[in-house]
Amino acid sequence: MSEIHGHENFDPSWLDERFAFDSAARNEVVEETLLSFTGKKEQLTIVDIGSGTGSNAVYFFDKFPYQQQWYFLELDPLLLRYSLSRLGAIAAQRKMETDLDLNSLKVKGVTKKININTICDSFLEIDKLLDLKSVDVVTAGAVFDLLSVQQFEDFARLLHENGVALLSTLNYAGMSFSDDDPLNNHYVDLYEQHMVRDQEYGHSLGKEVTNVMTDFYDKNKINYHIGKSVWNIHEQARKMHNFLFGFMEKAMQDMIPDAFDFQQFEKWLTRKRELSKEEKLTIVVEHYDLFIID
Ligand SMILES: C[S@@+](CC[C@H](N)C(=O)[O-])C[C@H]1O[C@@H](n2cnc3c(N)ncnc32)[C@H](O)[C@@H]1O
Repeated sequence: MSEIHGHENFDPSWLDERFAFDSAARNEVVEETLLSFTGKKEQLTIVDIGSGTGSNAVYFFDKFPYQQQWYFLELDPLLLRYSLSRLGAIAAQRKMETDLDLNSLKVKGVTKKININTICDSFLEIDKLLDLKSVDVVTAGAVFDLLSVQQFEDFARLLHENGVALLSTLNYAGMSFSDDDPLNNHYVDLYEQHMVRDQEYGHSLGKEVTNVMTDFYDKNKINYHIGKSVWNIHEQARKMHNFLFGFMEKAMQDMIPDAFDFQQFEKWLTRKRELSKEEKLTIVVEHYDLFIID
């Protein structure tokens, strides 16, 4: 699975560190089409698939209508627990009433009434877990690059057949460094190959995710809105740099078996770490956001 988005790295501190970059990256035009749809409703039922630390609910807390019913579908029980306490703490800071238990959170204030229920299961089984006819929108942040083509198509078909809108953000599209080291492209290329390596269920979409999505929607004549979403990881964002360096280093242990070649990679990485320390490095990670409503 993808290192940037993949399962091995669902360290809550990584997902939380990303939040500011994710929020800044969100494509405004795509989001506007979502909000003009949700703005017409007084209450909204949203399913956040692969909800991680609950960033979609945090982000849309103020932007969605007064009454929100969220379901978080997530495989990792610890992340589910963490996401409920994160949202509970945000609500408490705003002096809202909160009622937190193991699998749910209820929040009530003057401006919002929000219920969140967590379901620790695979979103690939969404139709067995929830009545899709009662769902207005599914949100998915940095999730579909983890799937195989078949898994994505089956899931997208299910939503379409049930008339459920989908916001899919942070679909990985590429990465670049601001320095002119000639080996940059080589290691980014190996890193992207690692994202799509064979796994038990086939291989993940990695960088192909947006093409696979748009091909599916074009083929089935389903309307979608699409726009770029870019992390601009500036010179001072050293914590983000270090997360990305760590992910690359781990991936290269699989991709570069030869000890001498691996040493060359380590030298490249050391140069990157030095540039970062001197605040002379920026990293750009490109994604696409899509909103599908038909
Ligand atoms: C890259 S993280 C993204 C988390 C969150 N959406 C965000 O943007 O911060 C992907 C999440 O999907 C979850 N996940 C992966 N496959 C899943 C599946 N089949 N069903 C439910 N959750 C899944 C992982 O446990 C992980 O928390």
